[in-house]
Amino acid sequence: MRQIFPELGVNIDHVATLRNTREGFDPDPLSAAVLVKKAGASQLVCHLREDRRHIRDPDLFLFRSWKGLPVNLEMAMTDEMTIIALEVQPALVTLVPERREERTTEGGLVLGPDMCRRIEEFRKKCQECGIRLSLFLAPDPLDMERAMDLGVDQVELHTGEYANARDPLIRERELERLFRAADRVSGSPVRLAAGHGLDRDNLVPVLAIENLMEVNIGHSIIARSLFVGLEKAVIEVLDRIRQETPLARREAPLS
Ligand code: PXP
Repeated sequence: MRQIFPELGVNIDHVATLRNTREGFDPDPLSAAVLVKKAGASQLVCHLREDRRHIRDPDLFLFRSWKGLPVNLEMAMTDEMTIIALEVQPALVTLVPERREERTTEGGLVLGPDMCRRIEEFRKKCQECGIRLSLFLAPDPLDMERAMDLGVDQVELHTGEYANARDPLIRERELERLFRAADRVSGSPVRLAAGHGLDRDNLVPVLAIENLMEVNIGHSIIARSLFVGLEKAVIEVLDRIRQETPLARREAPLS
């Protein structure tokens, strides 16, 4: 028997956001990446936004030369970002919606006909370069169907509505939606990830999603790192994943 836990991706955008407030070098996102790896995370997540308020282009190239962890590049489906992604060739691209005035990514991608056409074109280019493609989607069964039709490698469920719900009934309902959406892709080749607004506590019920292979967490880890250090903040989440992933999904026969 081997144990299967969801992998942890750590989003280090807010390290760059802090650095950018003074337009200097500290804190250095690459040093943060080194600690994230040392702590045992599986991938580095970063969002190259149109306004470059988080990481910036040179950061991406540094991550690429470092090669310490696979990079999950979050980006909008624009021509500018397409060119950069194909040049940098991260392990994974996650397409996210982006509005300049938003504080953070507020919802999932809207998969209208034009977006689907652009994703299809981009998917082919990614495939040629060996870049895996993920879509950041609200937990909507129809969107899951569309993602499967598009033949993307991964879907990341937007957990923000669940994580931000204060009313326990709403939180429960949002959790249900996550489970239902996950069910929809279960048994398909689409790998399932989840992220947004997750922390050590609200992560626990999400870990019960049987086909969940990856969680991506940024804000809560970087916030916690101010008090305990980045390495420990990542280790705390990894420990929680190891302790709280239900036994039923933890054990699988060796293939
Ligand atoms: N996953 C995706 C696709 C995101 O856009 C973000 C936020 O940038 C995260 C995960 C991490 O969210 P948070 O910072 O709230 O943990």
